This record gives sequence, structure tokens and C-alpha cells, in this order.
Amino acid sequence: MKFFVDTADVGDIKDLLSTGLLDGVTTNPSLVAKSGRQFKEVIAEICALTEMPVSAEVSAVDTDGMIAEGELLANIAENVVVKLPLTLDGLAACAHFKRKKIMTNVTLCFSANQALLAAKAGATYVSPFIGRLDDINLEGSDLIKDIRKIYDNYGFETKILAASIRTANHVTQAALAGADVTTIPPAVIKKLAQHPLTDKGLEQFLNDWKATGQSIL
Ligand code: G3P
Repeated sequence: MKFFVDTADVGDIKDLLSTGLLDGVTTNPSLVAKSGRQFKEVIAEICALTEMPVSAEVSAVDTDGMIAEGELLANIAENVVVKLPLTLDGLAACAHFKRKKIMTNVTLCFSANQALLAAKAGATYVSPFIGRLDDINLEGSDLIKDIRKIYDNYGFETKILAASIRTANHVTQAALAGADVTTIPPAVIKKLAQHPLTDKGLEQFLNDWKATGQSIL
């Protein structure tokens, strides 16, 4: 499963790129607003840091507007993935970008039927929001499982990008459900490697090693 980081914070992206764990970046209008930065500038800066896919979301809601904005965003860098809302207008724009061989991420997906439409529109990625489903007491991971089965039934090439990740458990659930990618907030990525027994075991190893009086170098 590929790991994307879900942020527009350039500092967090730089830190996580150095871990070698990242395969891409996703942003959305809320994350860009949180960054306090000019949208096109921050996307250009992120794309200068990495050649990995970087999702940048349009603000228009009509097909022509999405196409105009998406083409401008795609011109910022070759690794820009145009992010489009899962609406009929967004799907029409998605089909346009498919014909133009521009990568797309169809977002705000909350049902298997929506994901089926995204695949039929030729989306590169579809972003089912599992955290927001959990927030209303539904099982977000079940959606990933349903999409995985539907896409495998018909050989759709669209990649399932599990989004709206709130916890480390969500990452596990997305992997078990067969997501191709999960996009994870920086704080959650950092938690994935943590376990108290690892810390305890390492402390014991180091204490026992220190008692030998040896050094490796
Ligand atoms: O960026 C898309 C998605 O990951 C946002 O998730 O629910 O935390 O706003 P959320």
C-alpha cells in the first residue's frame, strides 16, 4: 500500500520525505487555508520538493470551471494530480482530463456507486473518506472493501486512495480492506512506528549492551 501525506504544510512534508516512507502528497482547500499560504505558490513549492504525485483541488463546481482551473493547476508541474469533487460536473471534468492524460483524484467519495462512477470516468485515484463515515457511526472500512471488490470484478484501473484517516487503526483497516493508497495526516504517520513494547525492548537491549562494555565502532 502506498503512503501519501495529507497536508499542505511544507515543513511536515520535508520532514516526512526524509523518512523514505512517502509515495505522494494530497492537499484540499481546508488544508491550504490552514497553511495560510497562497494556493498556487504552495503547490509549486511542494512539487519542487518531490516528483511524487501531489493532489491539488479545484474550487469551481461547474465542469467548465473545473477544467479551466484544473488545466492551470496541471501546468504548475507534471506531478500535479487534479483533485475534483465527486459530482456529475466533477465526473465530466474527470473524463476530460482522462482524455488529456492528466492525472485526477476524485474526492469526497462516500458510496460504492460514487466510486463506480469515478472509475467509469477514468479517475486515476478515488478518495473514499473513511473517517467522516466513522464520524457518523458508519463503518468506513466497509466502503473500501466494497470498492475493492467492485474494481476487481471489472478490472478498473482507478486506484483506491483511502482518505479522511483519523487514527493508526484506520491505516490498518485500509490496508486490510485492500486500498491501493492511504493518505495520512503527518501526526498519524509518526504514530505508526510507535509501540510501547518496542520502546521497552530497545531500552532493555541498550542497557544489556552497555553492561558488556563493548562498542561496535
Ligand atoms: O484531504 C482529503 C481527506 O483526507 C480529508 O479528510 O475528513 O480529515 O478532512 P478529513
